[in-house]
Amino acid sequence: MRVAIIGCGKQAPKHIAGYRAAGVDIEPVLADLDEARARALAQAEQAEWSGDPKTLIGDRSIEAVHICTPTASHYNLIVTALEAGKHVFCEKPLCQTVGEAHNLAIRAGAKGLVGAVGYIYRFVPAFEWLHGLLNLEDGAPLGRPYFGIFRIGGRGSHQPWKHSVSGGGGARNEMMVHMLDLVLWCFGDLRNIQVLREGLLRPRRTIQGHSIAADAEDLVVLSATTSGGAELLLEADLLTPAFSQFAEVEGDNGSFFGSIQPHLPSFVFLERAVGELHAGRNELKHGGQSPFARQMAAFAEAVRRGPTGNLATFESSVALMETVSRLTGAVSGED
Ligand SMILES: NC(=O)c1ccc[n+]([C@@H]2O[C@H](COP(=O)([O-])OP(=O)(O)OC[C@H]3O[C@@H](n4cnc5c(N)ncnc54)[C@H](O)[C@@H]3O)[C@@H](O)[C@H]2O)c1
Repeated sequence: MRVAIIGCGKQAPKHIAGYRAAGVDIEPVLADLDEARARALAQAEQAEWSGDPKTLIGDRSIEAVHICTPTASHYNLIVTALEAGKHVFCEKPLCQTVGEAHNLAIRAGAKGLVGAVGYIYRFVPAFEWLHGLLNLEDGAPLGRPYFGIFRIGGRGSHQPWKHSVSGGGGARNEMMVHMLDLVLWCFGDLRNIQVLREGLLRPRRTIQGHSIAADAEDLVVLSATTSGGAELLLEADLLTPAFSQFAEVEGDNGSFFGSIQPHLPSFVFLERAVGELHAGRNELKHGGQSPFARQMAAFAEAVRRGPTGNLATFESSVALMETVSRLTGAVSGED
């Protein structure tokens, strides 16, 4: 598959590495508004590059386009790619409004093209396990879930746009959408979504040696209720230099704990044995392919045979953006 990768910053090399680790035979062609970045990554990856992203997207030899640019630029680039008849894999979040998400889902569907979004947590073994545990037809091992906590904290700070409203940055777009997608995928629709706290705790940042003024929120705390009645707390920030991520779900037969971080345990503790899970602590043992490899393999498979498995589609981002648009509550930007 000949793949155009638009935007050659932090995410682009992970996509290429993911394909290669999955053994998917791709020919990447790289482009960036900043030619020097495209050239440097092409050299590192032994790939081709182009000086003009839009011409590359329209190139007849390209089958799929990856959008790895700042969020505010996603919508226009995706429209260009779909109009050119290309399958699209876009980094999260897909776009900035429900209307845009809806429009993109309709356009991709009308042309029979795959539209996928990089919600990588769906390919993390711990969360794939959680999804399975909560969605078994013969009863969930955890019993009835009644409470859960989902946390993701990172530093941001490698590019100014990550801290700017006009660039589409901030803790909602950069971090919270990952946890919301995970929760919607695992539990279905949410109700009573409340913003408990949203603010800017570190309004000045040092990025690439320069002090910049941030105007996007760097902390968001939400509460929500699942359709089954479980109360959830979700926390996302750009305040955690070490990066930290975990989720806990408590049910009336036990607890789940899991993380994307391999040094943290992922386990299910059950009061009563269910199926292959015994009473007490059941550790998830996993190795094998990285989440990026599995995500890229799923996209390549979708291009060949249509969307499969865990892949987040443009349609699922319509529901996600609708959820984001329903966020109400205690917002304060001046801390
Ligand atoms: N899945 C994840 O875990 C994850 C993690 C980090 C970032 N992201 C997402 O990935 C996307 C990119 O983030 P990043 O950290 O790689 O950003 P980045 O700033 O490191 O890289 C973005 C690149 O895009 C280029 N660019 C900007 N506008 C462009 C345009 N119109 N056309 C072509 N090139 C353009 C920039 O010059 C830059 O090189 C964002 O949507 C972000 O939210 C996802």
